[in-house]
Amino acid sequence: MDTDFGTEPRRETLSSGHILVTYPDGRTVVETPEHVFLAECGVPEKYREFANNPISDRAGHREIMETETLGIMMPNLIYISGGVGTGKSHMATWLWWQIAKAKFYEASDFPHQARWTDGYSFTSEMKRFSEEKFSVLEQLHEYTRHQMRTLLIDDVFADRATDVDYQNLAQLVEIRRNDIAQHTILTGMLSLYEIKKRSERLADRLAGGRVIVCEGPSWRLR
Ligand SMILES: Nc1ncnc2c1ncn2[C@@H]1O[C@H](COP(=O)(O)OP(=O)(O)OP(=O)(O)O)[C@@H](O)[C@H]1O
Ligand SMILES: [Mg+2]
Repeated sequence: MDTDFGTEPRRETLSSGHILVTYPDGRTVVETPEHVFLAECGVPEKYREFANNPISDRAGHREIMETETLGIMMPNLIYISGGVGTGKSHMATWLWWQIAKAKFYEASDFPHQARWTDGYSFTSEMKRFSEEKFSVLEQLHEYTRHQMRTLLIDDVFADRATDVDYQNLAQLVEIRRNDIAQHTILTGMLSLYEIKKRSERLADRLAGGRVIVCEGPSWRLR
């Protein structure tokens, strides 16, 4: 097998709009245009399959779907907590994509109104901005612009978060929750009670949105 294109898969657009992906080991996958959107929004490859797979037995999914069916407004702030492997990223990615599609699929610049990121990238981005001497508010407004209408930050407390990280997060949530056109989904290992020990304000704001707790052993070990 010719592997001279390194470790990156090779992508070729077919006339149908689908993408033919050829991996260095020769494996081929046809991606739908939706997969391409997901990639553009920042969803890592291993999470893209979560976007359209609701795993309907989960209480959180049921609850949110019922909210929609009953015509009750979807909360614009959702925090999904739980231990390792309990399905946080999966649930969050699915919810985030359903909201993005339902609200903004018709928009001409879709998918640029949806962004998938993680706590590590968020923290590094904040740090980079502050090194460039932007004010915290200016930094956070980057996260409230048009293309961030549907924002997911996965694993918000993954790397040992500092007090500044908690403050930034609290402020971000504060700014975004006041605009019902901005949807924010966060996932993390910490319970609201644990978050409260670090930032009472953040815990309070999250408690004002919807909190979904993923319980039980890791799905990877079942
Ligand atoms: N309800 C479910 N039923 C079956 N499999 C599930 C369910 N929820 C999640 N999974 C699967 O379990 C695996 C782990 O899920 P996921 O990555 O979402 O967990 P996580 O809580 O984000 O883990 P981590 O703490 O490592 O970030 C994935 O392969 C996912 O598809
Ligand atoms: Mg995860």
